[in-house]
Amino acid sequence: MSVSVGDASVAERVVAWQITHGRNHLPWQQTRDPYRVWLSEIMLQQTQVTTVLDYYARFLDRFPDVAALARATQDEVLGLWSGLGYYSRARNLHRCAQMVMSEHGGVFPKTAEVLVLLPGIGRSTAGAIAAFCFSQRVSILDANVRRVLTRLLGFKEDLASPRNERLLWDHAESLLPLRDLEVAMPRYTQGLMDLGASTCTPRAPRCNQCPLSVLCKARNEGEPERYPVKMRKLLRKSESWQLLVLQDQQGRVWLERRPPTGIWAGMHCVPVFPDVSALEAFVATLGDSPQLTQHELPPFLHVLTHRELHLHPVAIRSMQLNRPPGEGEWLSPDQWDRVGLPSPIRKLLDVTQASL
Ligand code: ADE
Repeated sequence: MSVSVGDASVAERVVAWQITHGRNHLPWQQTRDPYRVWLSEIMLQQTQVTTVLDYYARFLDRFPDVAALARATQDEVLGLWSGLGYYSRARNLHRCAQMVMSEHGGVFPKTAEVLVLLPGIGRSTAGAIAAFCFSQRVSILDANVRRVLTRLLGFKEDLASPRNERLLWDHAESLLPLRDLEVAMPRYTQGLMDLGASTCTPRAPRCNQCPLSVLCKARNEGEPERYPVKMRKLLRKSESWQLLVLQDQQGRVWLERRPPTGIWAGMHCVPVFPDVSALEAFVATLGDSPQLTQHELPPFLHVLTHRELHLHPVAIRSMQLNRPPGEGEWLSPDQWDRVGLPSPIRKLLDVTQASL
C-alpha cells in the first residue's frame, strides 16, 4: 500500500498544517523537558486535554521534578491523581519515576527503544516523548493517529490482530519526515495528534479542512467514518458489589486499602462485599442492631475498561460501634482528599454525608 506523494509529502503537509492550524499553546508544548512531557503524555492517555490541564499544573507544583515524584508515597501520588481514573497509570508513574532515579541516574532515556522499557510507557508514548524532546525519528500510534492513518491509507485490516497492528506501525514509520528532523519531528507528531483531535474525528470528519484529503484513500472511497475498521468487541465482564459506607458518630467513614492488584489496587475504599450475606456478616460484628441506622442508597453502574461494576451501596451510621474487623481506618471528610479514593467512591461519600 502506498500513498502517492504529489507535490508535498504527507509529513510536509502535516508539519505545515500544524504550524497554522494545530495546538501550540498547551503547557507541555512549551518545554522539551522529558519529565514534563512524559507526565503530560501519561495523563493524556485516557483523559481529555481540558481535564488534564488542572491536574498537570497541580502535579508539577507538588512534584517539580522526577526526584520529587520518586520520593513521594504512593498514597500521595494516588491522592493527587484522584478523579483522573485509570489508576494503574498513577502507580506506574510513581514506579517509573523511581526507576528513572535508580537505573538512569535521574535522567530520562533519550530514545524510544529505552523509554519503552519503563513502567507505563508503551510504544506510542515512548515515541511521543522521544519525538517531542529529542526529535527522534520514530512514530506514534495512539487512537487518534490510528484513525488518521487507517483513513489515509485505506487500511482495512482488523487491528485486534498483532500482525496487522505491526503492519500499521510499519506504514507509520514509512511516512515519517525525512528532512530537518530537529524541527519537523515535534511538529509532525503534534500535527498527527491535532488532526485526529480536531479534523479527522470519529464521526463527521472535516475532510475539507484536512491537509491530507487529496491523498486520503478513505475520503476517495466516500466513507471515511468506516475507519478504523471495527475491532473485535471488547468483552466486559459484569460484577455486582455491595458497598458499606460506615459512619461513626463523628462523621468519620471506615476505609480500607484495596489489595495491591486488581480493581482500584492500592487505593482507599469503603468495604466491598460480593453479596448481601457477606455484608450482613460484617455488620453483625459491629454491635447491637437497634443502634444501627441503615439506609439503602440507589444502586449505580461504574464502567471500567474490562469490568462493568454494579454497585449497591448501604450506609450505616451508629452511635456506638465495635471496631470493624480487618484492616482499615476511620477517616474524616477533610482527610478524604489526601488519600487516593476512586472517583465513584468519593462521590458516594459526598452523597452519603448529605443523606445521613
Ligand atoms: N494527547 C496525547 N498527547 C497529546 C499532546 N501532546 N497534545 C495534545 N493532546 C495529546
